[in-house]
Amino acid sequence: MLERSNANWMVYAVSVFAALAGLLFGYDTGIISGAILFIKKDFSLSAFQVEMIVSAVLLGALIGSGFSGRLTDLFGRRKVLLFTAITFIIGSLSTALAPSVHWLIVGRIILGVAIGVGSFTAPLYIAEIAPQRIRGMLVSLNQLAITIGIVFSYLVNYYFSVQGRWPWMLGLGVVPAAILLLGTLFLPESPRWMILKGWENKARTVLQRIRGSENINKEFEEIQQTVKVEKGTHRLLFAKWVRPILFISLGLSFFQQVTGINTIIYYAPTILQIAGFKQAGGAILATLGIGIINVLFTIIALPLIDKWGRRPLLLLGLSGMFISLAMMGAAFYFPGFAALRWVAVGSMVLYIASFAMSLGPIMWLIISEIFPLNIRGVGASLAISASWGFNMLVALTFLTLIELLGPSYTFWLYAFLCILGGLFVYFIVPETKGCSLEHIEENLRLGRPSRELGIPLRKSTFSQ
Ligand code: BGC
Repeated sequence: MLERSNANWMVYAVSVFAALAGLLFGYDTGIISGAILFIKKDFSLSAFQVEMIVSAVLLGALIGSGFSGRLTDLFGRRKVLLFTAITFIIGSLSTALAPSVHWLIVGRIILGVAIGVGSFTAPLYIAEIAPQRIRGMLVSLNQLAITIGIVFSYLVNYYFSVQGRWPWMLGLGVVPAAILLLGTLFLPESPRWMILKGWENKARTVLQRIRGSENINKEFEEIQQTVKVEKGTHRLLFAKWVRPILFISLGLSFFQQVTGINTIIYYAPTILQIAGFKQAGGAILATLGIGIINVLFTIIALPLIDKWGRRPLLLLGLSGMFISLAMMGAAFYFPGFAALRWVAVGSMVLYIASFAMSLGPIMWLIISEIFPLNIRGVGASLAISASWGFNMLVALTFLTLIELLGPSYTFWLYAFLCILGGLFVYFIVPETKGCSLEHIEENLRLGRPSRELGIPLRKSTFSQ
C-alpha cells in the first residue's frame, strides 16, 4: 500500500514538474501582452517592430518543437527538460536586461526555443511515465498549466503596470524556470526511452520504482514490443495510409491558431484600448478576467472531454467562437457606439470560454492520441511545430490587418475561419473518445474515411 502511494507520488511529481514547462509556455507567451505597451513607448516602436517582438518567441518555438523529436530520442526526455529549464532562464534574463530592440528580439527567440521544446517534451514525458488509466487526464493537465501560466503573467503585468516596469515582467519567468530545473534534477528518466537505448535492466528498475508494488512484467513487455515496431519511423510518417492522420492533426493545429485565439491572448489590452479603455492598467485588469475565465472553462472541459466526446465540444466551441467574433466585428463597425468597450469585453469572454472548452485542450489531446504509437514522436513534433508556424502567421499579421482592413473585417475574417473549422471538424475529425490506438490504426490501414477512424470495426454506421 505504502509502495503504491509512493509510486503515485512519483507519477504526480513528474506530471507537476513537467507541467511547469506548460506554465512557462503560458507565462512567456502571455506576459508580452502587457509588457509590449511599455516597451513600445520606451523604444518608440512601429507596429511592425511590435509584431516582431511578439512573434520572435513563435519563431523560436517553431524551431524548438521541430527538432525536439530528435533531441528527446538522442538525449532522453529528462535531459531535454533540463535543457528547456536552462534555456528558459537564459531567455528570461536576457529579455529582462535587453538594452536594445535587437537584443530583445534575440532573447525572445531563445525563450521561444525553450517553449517549443517544452511544448513537445512535457506531454511526451508525462504520457510515458503515467499509468494508462490516468494518462488522458494528465496530458490535458498540460493545457491547464498553460492557462494558469497566462493568468500569472497577467497578474504580474497588472502589478508592474503602475510604473511600467517591463523588465520585471519579463524577468520573473526565471522563478518557475529555476523550480523546473531543480525539480527535474530529481526526476527519473523515462523507462521507455531507456528501452529504446537498449538499457533494459536500468529501465526495469526505474519502471518498478515508479509503479511501486504493481507487477510490471506486462507493461515492460508491451514497451519492448512497441520499441521493436518503431524502426523506420520517419519514412512511415509519409506512408499513404498515415496521410489522413497527418491531415487531421495539421488541420486541427491550423484551426486552433487561425481562428484568432492569440490575438486575444497577446493583444487583449491593445484591443481593449482600441475599444475605449484608455488606461493601460484598466485594459490589463480586464485582460486578467479573461485569463481567469480561460482557466475556469478549461477545468470545466476536462471531465466533459471524456463524457461528451471531442467532436460535440469542438463543434459547440467553434459556434461560440464564431458568434463572439461576429459580435466583436459588429461592435467595431459602428464608430462612437457607446457600449463598444463592454461588447468587446463580453465577446472576448464568450470567445475565450468557447476556446477553452474546445480547440484549446482538444487539439493537444487528439495530436497526442491519434498517431499510431510507432510514429507518435515524429508526427506530434511535426504537428506541434506547424501549430507554432500558424501561431506566428496570425501574430505577425494581426496588427497589420487591423491597419489595413480595420478591426471589424479582421474579426469577421477570423469568424469566417471558424465556419471553415466547423466544417473541417464535422466532415474530417474522428471521435476518439474511449477508442484505442489499435482501432485507429486498424481503420487507417483499411482506408476508412477519416471521421470514422475512431469507430470500432463492428459498428458499420457513423454516429456522432
Ligand atoms: C494554444 C496557445 C494559446 C493557449 C491559450 C493553447 O492551447 O496552443 O496558442 O495561447 O492555448 O490558452
